[in-house]
Amino acid sequence: MILALETSCDDTCAAVLTPAGAVRSNVISSQGVHDQFGGVVPEIASRHHLQLVNAVVDDALARARTTLDDVSLVAVTQGPGLVGALLVGVATAKAIASARGLPLAPVDHLQGHVAASFLPGEATTAAGAAPPLEPPFLCLVASGGHTFLAHVRDHASFDVLGRTLDDAAGEAFDKGARLLGLPYPGGPHLERLAADGDPQAFAFPVADKLAGLDFSFSGLKTALLYKVRDLGEQETQARRADLAAAFQRAIVEALAHRVERAVEETGVQRVSIGGGVAANGALRARLAGVVDQLHVPPRALCTDNAAMIGAAARHLTALRPGEYDDLDAYPTGRRDL
Ligand code: KG4
Ligand code: ZN
Repeated sequence: MILALETSCDDTCAAVLTPAGAVRSNVISSQGVHDQFGGVVPEIASRHHLQLVNAVVDDALARARTTLDDVSLVAVTQGPGLVGALLVGVATAKAIASARGLPLAPVDHLQGHVAASFLPGEATTAAGAAPPLEPPFLCLVASGGHTFLAHVRDHASFDVLGRTLDDAAGEAFDKGARLLGLPYPGGPHLERLAADGDPQAFAFPVADKLAGLDFSFSGLKTALLYKVRDLGEQETQARRADLAAAFQRAIVEALAHRVERAVEETGVQRVSIGGGVAANGALRARLAGVVDQLHVPPRALCTDNAAMIGAAARHLTALRPGEYDDLDAYPTGRRDL
């Protein structure tokens, strides 16, 4: 069995996968203490990981009806993320692996989001779950910290075709939600509010004039700020759902245009999505309209989770006992993303 850990932000996650890649358990403990601060407080996140990590690992093993005796590989997110939070996962994984003489696979968090597509996707027909996606394919990763379009040529690496030049798509959702008085993390709240609104009610900028496949979301956030100011408190309250729907539409259109263009430019027809924003129903529906072969991971595999880290680890070379004693977390990306 593969035991995987993920603690890069505010979710304490552990999962158990079979060596063939079947997910036996996927435990996600959302800390739920950060909403009062309007964002994740790194120090609080680290402390909560420390308190939760052992119980989450035990729970993942119990749900998989297995024990550490059956674990043959430990995988862990090494970065990027909050360094104190990452360190809890890395130290825990090192302790378990070295106590048991097991190999340890350090995994890049972004590679993990891509690897969620190596797991069965959400059912699109009555036939049940969609089969795992095999490279080559295009993958749009849109999370709270990153937004990029990847050309996944093989299981262990990917080329970046485009990236955000400023805010990540999830960050845009969170900032927009905040302007509309919604709690953190704003994406799911904004999506719910948008369901009752008219996406055409306001014309927010889509930033589709940008050349190439890069993204930009900071102008959109400013446009919403000005609109809220112009409308005033009362009118903003009355039109919150329309504002949310139009704002969400602008993000979805920006993402969908780049995906469409990437399919045209590369000729690669198969596309998957990952990262927290991939849980968004409007994005899923819009992409299904422009991509013939869209692979959509279940929502629990889009937001941060350890199953995706285990899925990535299967295709990486693990460190052997003695080789990971000095293993450290890295807070920022290994590449410019
Ligand atoms: O991948 P993730 O769980 O963590 C990071 O690595 O950042 O992504 C979290 C982000 C947050 O910005 C959150 O607001 C956004 O994903 N998100 C959504 C939805 N669910 C989560 N955005 C839009 N619609 C959703 N349903
Ligand atoms: Zn993430």
